[in-house]
Amino acid sequence: MCGIVGYIGASQAAPILLDGLGKLEYRGYDSAGIAVFDGEEIQLKKATGRLKVLSELTHDGATMPGTAGIGHTRWATHGSPSDTNAHPHCSKGNGIAVVHNGIIENYLKVKKKLTNKGYEFLSETDTEVIAHLLDYYYKGDPLEAIIKVLHRVEGSYALGIMFKDHPDQIYAVRKDSPLIVGKGEEGNLIASDVPAVLKYTRDVYFIQNEEIALLTREHITFFNMDCEEIAKESVTIEWDINAAEKGGYEHFMLKEMYEQPATVRDTLNPRLKKGKIVIEELGMTPEEIQNIRKIHIVACGSAYHTGVTAKYVFEGMARIPVEVDLASEFRYRNPILEEWDLVLIISQSGETADSLAALREAKSRGVKTLGIVNVVGSSIAREADKVMYTWAGPEIAVATTKAYSAQLIAQYLLAIHFAQVRGTITEKEAGSLLNDLKRLPDQIELLLANKGKIQKFANRYIAARDVFFIGRGVDYAISLEGSLKLKEISYIHSEAYAAGELKHGTISLIEEGTLVAAVATQEDLYKKTISNILEVRTRGAFVLAVTNEGNTEIEKAADYVIYLPQTSSYFTNSLAIIPLQLFSYYVAVGRGCDVDKPRNLAKSVTVE
Ligand code: AGP
Ligand code: GLU
Repeated sequence: MCGIVGYIGASQAAPILLDGLGKLEYRGYDSAGIAVFDGEEIQLKKATGRLKVLSELTHDGATMPGTAGIGHTRWATHGSPSDTNAHPHCSKGNGIAVVHNGIIENYLKVKKKLTNKGYEFLSETDTEVIAHLLDYYYKGDPLEAIIKVLHRVEGSYALGIMFKDHPDQIYAVRKDSPLIVGKGEEGNLIASDVPAVLKYTRDVYFIQNEEIALLTREHITFFNMDCEEIAKESVTIEWDINAAEKGGYEHFMLKEMYEQPATVRDTLNPRLKKGKIVIEELGMTPEEIQNIRKIHIVACGSAYHTGVTAKYVFEGMARIPVEVDLASEFRYRNPILEEWDLVLIISQSGETADSLAALREAKSRGVKTLGIVNVVGSSIAREADKVMYTWAGPEIAVATTKAYSAQLIAQYLLAIHFAQVRGTITEKEAGSLLNDLKRLPDQIELLLANKGKIQKFANRYIAARDVFFIGRGVDYAISLEGSLKLKEISYIHSEAYAAGELKHGTISLIEEGTLVAAVATQEDLYKKTISNILEVRTRGAFVLAVTNEGNTEIEKAADYVIYLPQTSSYFTNSLAIIPLQLFSYYVAVGRGCDVDKPRNLAKSVTVE
């Protein structure tokens, strides 16, 4: 995700664009750029790094005169952060300028077609195809060209567009990426999010998918995809600026929890082509996939927990042996690595010191390495032999939620793909798994809607001293993450235990009223976990059970039950973690903790 702004009115545009981008920098900050019509040409300025680099370059916009412009602060998905890859992207001669938030999934196909027609591309981005495709279709009518482009591209977008021939207009359109229009006294604006416009207006239009906005200095007009004008009502924004950066949520963590459905879609959809999994960036031949002897998944913290889940998924689906290692251990234990091994390094930031060191250790042994990373152009992304990006966008809260969910999706996709290539699942089974994957975003939304019930339950435990999480198989992996979430943001001591292991010591810690969260989503292990629930209950525990809908007999064993929608047992982590994230969040809020910036923690642990 990134930040888009646009302004057309009576004032100088560049300072307004830079100010608006500053309010959106939390949405993406690896590079930035602005385009301003100076009366004759569209002038462009772009810079790698934080927004202040661009502000200094343009003397806070003073070197870019003009009263109409668009701007962008980037969170790269295609093409590393660089001046060339920064937005706006332009057609030849800066005839058309575009800023884009989202992913053009068929950009390679469109790029090839345009290249064959003589178009020259300067950047590695997917976005640049939009600028050239607009040029290709433009015959004098901007709206006509835009609509033709929208019929041609696939994926998600929020676009700000300027045409040199029409300097008194700015166009905006969206599909699945956010975009709003602000009606100001001194001019009209577009932006990815409300914070960018609040200084100038609280009178805002929320654009729906495939609605096109035409802004002039005085008017705002909306069109549908048939070029028909449509009427829209504006709303008045009551938020203050600080709340607005969080989209009206109290914390970034809550906002990012609610972004998980979109994050799952963004990481999944570009890799599903006509019902098949296509992981273009993997760069492994079917023979190489068939020859994989063992997968080593190496990571830290929550990323490690996704690897513990993935072990069950890879081994269950593709029958490939998997070893999951904490990166801080892997790097020093002289691991046994063979020629046909594959090392997966999972890292949201792509800068975690232990994970980077583990990657280098694996590479020094000549073993193939694949990074699953969220930050484009980060160290792990650059140094791994191949990188499969999660498209979660910037994650501001220290406690990961949406990046964690995206890491799970990436590993599910790899496991299904490997299983299909190795013939360990049938096409029918693969189809059913893909259907389950596609249902996850809506199911996550359903679970997020439960927040009131979870908050009420959480309020009972803000004074808890010890909380235990137990589960078997994938449920054990879920317990690991559920426990970490609680610990890291509420500072309550918690432990995750393989449910079958509890009686080998730790059960001695169970006292009257101790909260035990029992995760029981694995149908083949369900009855075993029920026995473990009864073990702790007879010793006084209060048991919160998380299980699949329909398993109502668990109510005889547990005190409080959260039901999950049906999905493959391989994917239940993506659902079970939602109520556990909400539980931890509301316990931490109830305790008055700094949820987004917990004590002693950093978003990226770049030291040993
Ligand atoms: C996540 O809630 C934690 N803050 C932490 O465990 C994190 O997952 C770990 O530090 C790994 O970070 P990375 O994914 O950026 O490598
Ligand atoms: N996919 C585009 C790029 O990589 C836009 C990314 C964004 O939304 O910031 O430049």
